[in-house]
Amino acid sequence: MAWDTTDTLGKGDVVSNESLANLLREERRFAPPADLAAGANVTAEAYEQAKADRLGFWAAQARRLTWAVEPTETLDWSNPPFAKWFADGKLNVAYNCVDRHVEAGLGDRVAIHFEGEPGDSRAITYAELKDEVSKAANALTALGVQKGDRVAVYMPMIPETAIAMLACARIGAAHSVVFGGFSADALATRIEDADAKVVITSDGGYRRGKPAALKPAVDDAVARVDRVEHVLVVRRTGQDVAWTEGRDVWWHELVEQQSAEHTPEAFDAEHPLFILYTSGTTGKPKGILHTSGGYLTQAAYTHHAVFDLKPETDVYWCTADVGWVTGHSYIVYGPLANGATQVMYEGTPDTPHQGRFWEIVQKYGVTILYTAPTAIRTFMKWGDDIPAKFDLSSLRILGSVGEPINPEAWIWYRKHIGADTCPIVDTWWQTETGAMMISPLPGVTETKPGSAQTPLPGISATVVDDEANEVPNGGGGYLVLTEPWPSMLRTIWGDDQRFIDTYWSRFEGKYFAGDGAKKDEDGDIWLLGRVDDVMLVSGHNISTTEVESALVSHPSVAEAAVVGAADETTGQAIVAFVILRGTAAESDDLVGELRNHVGATLGPIAKPKRILPVAELPKTRSGKIMRRLLRDVAENRQLGDVTTLTDSSVMELIQSKLPAAPSED
Ligand code: WT7
Repeated sequence: MAWDTTDTLGKGDVVSNESLANLLREERRFAPPADLAAGANVTAEAYEQAKADRLGFWAAQARRLTWAVEPTETLDWSNPPFAKWFADGKLNVAYNCVDRHVEAGLGDRVAIHFEGEPGDSRAITYAELKDEVSKAANALTALGVQKGDRVAVYMPMIPETAIAMLACARIGAAHSVVFGGFSADALATRIEDADAKVVITSDGGYRRGKPAALKPAVDDAVARVDRVEHVLVVRRTGQDVAWTEGRDVWWHELVEQQSAEHTPEAFDAEHPLFILYTSGTTGKPKGILHTSGGYLTQAAYTHHAVFDLKPETDVYWCTADVGWVTGHSYIVYGPLANGATQVMYEGTPDTPHQGRFWEIVQKYGVTILYTAPTAIRTFMKWGDDIPAKFDLSSLRILGSVGEPINPEAWIWYRKHIGADTCPIVDTWWQTETGAMMISPLPGVTETKPGSAQTPLPGISATVVDDEANEVPNGGGGYLVLTEPWPSMLRTIWGDDQRFIDTYWSRFEGKYFAGDGAKKDEDGDIWLLGRVDDVMLVSGHNISTTEVESALVSHPSVAEAAVVGAADETTGQAIVAFVILRGTAAESDDLVGELRNHVGATLGPIAKPKRILPVAELPKTRSGKIMRRLLRDVAENRQLGDVTTLTDSSVMELIQSKLPAAPSED
């Protein structure tokens, strides 16, 4: 099981009640800018309304959508944990994301400013998007795709990816997007599990200045499964592709010859919209199922509230890949349902130069930027002078997602990207939650660097101890969601029991997210990383996130990854892998200084036993540090599975650092 939380933590023996040591003190506070607060889409009143009538609040947010049949029911929770939201309503998700804006007279508004990695660009208006989605819907129908079928999408970051997803939604087929960086093997497993009958792909996409092929992996994957009838191929790079007559079809041949007329059918609110696989450390990947009405309600509402989107004037940019849930909810469904104008970028942040992101912000006048802490720390490492060369004055709100953001990275983001004025919204959520759950509101919340702070209006989250008791302010434990929410996963595709076991069994009646968290003295929530990453040192639970943040707060450290390694005397010992900033030289003195710095910041118990400067850290393709592999290194074990790493040579480099003599107190 991916999180292994029910297995390893179900007995209440690994994380004790004094739990997840609440060590970090962060006193900096930032009030919302007065003009933003004055004109904010959502004010403090929303918390009050939702508190007084949670279901009424969500029913009102559902009315932001256009329904073919308005729902009269809000939540059916008669068979927990299987929720139904807005069950008697009917809608078409693609109609909500495209047609209704054209019908409202906004057909000429740009929906997507596409920026290819080689520098090609393309602006697609809502009217054009409607035609393209309609043609693609007709093409899928011509290939035999029907309501209720599954379609796999294995694509680069190009507009056709969003068009393909919307075309599926339009005809009621669930898409299963598989990130283009995954192997043929991973793709085959996912095609098989979802039983997809069509795969949409491209010849390739541009990455790091070169065409990177996708079609060969599809050919390989499709050869291993039985049911795929057609492969629809977008031409992006012009690379040579192998062709299977009768099975393979060019997008530009089939889609372009279709009519741009397509009448969207209204589907039940609980009709499946997509499956998205989350991989775990072990076990087969889990197909997270999301449905239509509740998902779109919360994706659209949170995008409107948390980014304060003004669709007439804002230019929004989410740098995630559509292969992740962030791309589903905050590139495709949320922004388009709200009629936003957005930037979509194909490539990497350092191609052809390390200022590419800031050049794009300047070129399109981006006002809202949504990115990940791993990217922010990379920009810190590259240096302040790079963003300083570009005009970033259009920016007004900055978002963060994917992992806890270290206070120093938060401050850097605000200062060097946000001109020390943009509010930062640190948004906590998961593939499983479908949309944002815990986040500041930019016109309301006085922000705290490193904290996601408050459950959004209509969301119920708290922190509990081993016995499921809510911890008092100042306490630490497990993050749980205590009430169902509209965009919640409905099940794991094909495995209801696994859905119950994984998320609903640890604490009765509550959804356990797998994350450790603490509440500060004001009751604000601080995420402490996955509970499997918590270290047990001399009987104290210490969060990897807090030690990493303490290291990153030292001027010589750009990035840090901390693990607990088995230790005869202390149970676990803290081992830190650090990437130094450009100017810092590796030395024993510096290592000693860093240990003392952590000791001074968090207390002597949190001092790492060993600190190893390294050039890179092992990360998954979504940017999460693979601490499991670092634990293998720290415990001198054979490395586990490295197939989901972006770059497997990183581990060889790190291992070559060993055996460095352990430093002693
Ligand atoms: C896990 C979910 C949410 C879309 C991208 C990741 C971590 C996510 C934050 C945040 C602290 C965060 C959690 C969560 N996480 N956002 N703002 N602060 N941690 O989706 O791959 O399903 O990962 O990412 O550990 O459980 P995902």
